[in-house]
Order: sequence, then C-alpha cells, then structure tokens
Amino acid sequence: MHRSNEVAVLDIDSDTSAILNIDEVKRPEHLPIGVLDKDGKVNRKALNEWWMSRAIPASRSGLREALEIMKVSPPALLLTKCFGLSLSDQYWVKPKAKDIEWKDVNFFENSFSEDVGNALFGRAHEGANLDLMSPDNTTDGWLKKKWIIADGKRMLVKGGSAPAFQEPLNEAIASILMDRLNIPHIPYTVEWEGGQPLSVCEDFITPETELVSAWYVRGTRKKPGHISEYQHYIDACEALRIPDVKSQVDRMIVIDFLMVNTDRHLNNFGAIRNAETLEWLGAAPIFDTGTALWHDGLSHMIRPRADVESKPFRSRHGEQIKLVTDFSWLDISVLKDAPDEFSEILKQSPYIDDQRRDALCSALKIRIQMLEEAKSQTAI
Ligand SMILES: Nc1ncnc2c1ncn2[C@@H]1O[C@H](COP(=O)(O)OP(=O)(O)OP(=O)(O)O)[C@@H](O)[C@H]1O
Ligand SMILES: [Mg+2]
Repeated sequence: MHRSNEVAVLDIDSDTSAILNIDEVKRPEHLPIGVLDKDGKVNRKALNEWWMSRAIPASRSGLREALEIMKVSPPALLLTKCFGLSLSDQYWVKPKAKDIEWKDVNFFENSFSEDVGNALFGRAHEGANLDLMSPDNTTDGWLKKKWIIADGKRMLVKGGSAPAFQEPLNEAIASILMDRLNIPHIPYTVEWEGGQPLSVCEDFITPETELVSAWYVRGTRKKPGHISEYQHYIDACEALRIPDVKSQVDRMIVIDFLMVNTDRHLNNFGAIRNAETLEWLGAAPIFDTGTALWHDGLSHMIRPRADVESKPFRSRHGEQIKLVTDFSWLDISVLKDAPDEFSEILKQSPYIDDQRRDALCSALKIRIQMLEEAKSQTAI
C-alpha cells in the first residue's frame, strides 16, 4: 500500500518477512523508487532489498539486547508488527484478512507505542507485555534512537556514541551553522536524559510527503563508467525532474566540509516527493550531520588541516569541496562567533574536558578559515 493506494499484491513469509512472490502489480507508478529492472518490470530481489532495508539495521547500537527483551528475531520480523508503517514515507503492508484503512493506522495521525524505543534504549522490562506497533521498527541508522510524540509533534530522539557522546552536540552546532548560512535543514536541539545527551528533531515528513534517499534516486539509472558519482546523481535527479538539487548539494558539501562530516552516505540525504500525486518537491532539508568533528577521535587527533575522509562524491573533503558549483550565496562572515557558540554547547557535557573543547572550537575556527580559502580559490 502507498497511503490508500493498493500498489501490489505480495506473498510475505511470516517466518522471515521476506517477499516470496509478487502476485500482481496494481499501481506500478506508485512502486517504491528504484525497484524496476531495465525492461520496466518490478524486480523481486530489488523490492525485497528495499523492504528489508526498512528494518532496523543489524549494526544498531543496543539492538541485540532489545530483541531479547522483545523476544523477536531477526529485526525484519518487527516490520510486520507495525504493518511496515514508517514516519519517513507512506508505504505499508495490509494483510488480506484485515479490514484496515491507512487513515486509522498511519503514525502521522495516530499515536504509537514507545515500547520498542524504550527497549532500544535499554529501558523496557523483560516479560512485560510489549506493544510493538512502533515507527522505530522501520527507522534506519546505527545510533540508538526512538520516535516520541511531544505536544502533538512527531520527534526523533537520538543518542550518541561512547566515549565522547558528541554526536548530539554536533547536530546542535550544525543546526546553528546552517541557520546562519540559510541552508535548508532540520533543526536539532540537545536534551539530557539520565546524564546522556540526546539530539531531538521534528519529523520533516507529513502525511502527504515522503523521503526518498539518494541511494534509490541514483539507482534509477545505470551509471556509465566515465561519469562521476556526483554527475550521475545530478543526472538521475534531473531525469526524475527533482527541482533545485544542485544548489542543495552545494550547500550539503559546504556544511560537511565545515563539520568534517565523515558519514554523508547515500541514505543520509535525498529528495522529497508528494506520495499521492508523485510530484517531486525538491531536495530534502539536511539531516544527520552528527558523525563529524572527530566524534570518535582522541583529542590529540583533532587536526583540522588534515585532509579528512569524506562521502559521498569524493573520498577527501579537500577534493569534494571543489565540486561546489556556486559559492555566491555563502557569506562566511556570519560564522564569526560560531566557535564560541560551540564552546557553550560543549560546556554542557561531562564527557568533553576543557582540552577537547578547546581543540574542537579552534578546529571549527580553522575549518571556517579553510572554507573561506576554498571559496576564494574557486573565484579565481
Ligand atoms: N527528522 C526526520 N524526519 C523523518 N525521517 C527522518 C528524520 N531524521 C531521520 N529520519 C530517517 O531516519 C533515518 C535514520 O536517522 P539518522 O540518519 O539521523 O540516524 P543515524 O543513526 O545517525 O544514521 P547513520 O547510520 O547514518 O549514522 C534516516 O536515514 C531517515 O530515513
Ligand atoms: Mg543516518
């Protein structure tokens, strides 16, 4: 199902959640992006990969313990516990025997259980009668996370990783930088729970829209050997008529250069479409910028002038920044006191000592200078 549209009739194995057979395709235009083969027929393997990738990845922090508490394994089995519903798109599966409608089950308009999220954060009790109807079952990523409803809004709450637990603080400074630079982004704030920092952001998808990750967008065409990853992605977006992608990719490369983001993989950005009309609305606002600023490096390894690893278009930030097509929008002077703001954010954390804080703030200052240099080199 895609909202209330019946897309295909599938035979799903209840023991593994695998799609055993595609009995009939009713609305091919509503199929998920990137599951057709060359002759335009739905490919069962590709559809299975898409479906299975909705499940919590095996790499998720705390997953094994949570599955034990929930008595479910593998995580793909959680998919059918919530009809495959998500808070990032509008796909779901409706069992033939069940007379249910999208409006009565979708997580955007109906409440949901926090049991899965609590189990993932190690806060559920074994033996408790857990309600597994949760959008956490269909949320990607390796950091601990859960969806909650606060003041009627769907919010994603995400942890950090030991020893510095820096990712939530990085999300907060990235939000400040993007706010100043007018880069379309999802604002993240930091909250503290049990002495741990968590980042909190609002769902940027509505009941009418959906996120399609760059991975699926790039998979809509075969990449010719002589075309770069960057050009291939831009070409795929243009062929689908997704508006204004180049300017948002420019902005994403810039913020990732500043933040020294090492994890902008193809599921960490993408495009948004209207799930009913299938009209493409544009590039998604920037989200998930926490895996950055030496979050997992020791303080003495914070070397801002080193040419650090990047994704997704080039393997080094020094090369990737050269792909920016237009810097004219970039007013670097608005970032002047950003390192001081970063210092205030870092001060909240008992996991960051003074030495690390100083190293991080001066690193950010140098990255801002380096961006200025990159911009002026392009102008020549
Ligand atoms: N605000 C949001 N609104 C809707 N969907 C979101 C939002 N934030 C994240 N998502 C979805 O949830 C997925 C996981 O979130 P996120 O990328 O922030 O987690 P992560 O654990 O940091 O990921 P990674 O493994 O890339 O480090 C995203 O790929 C996206 O599909
Ligand atoms: Mg991610």
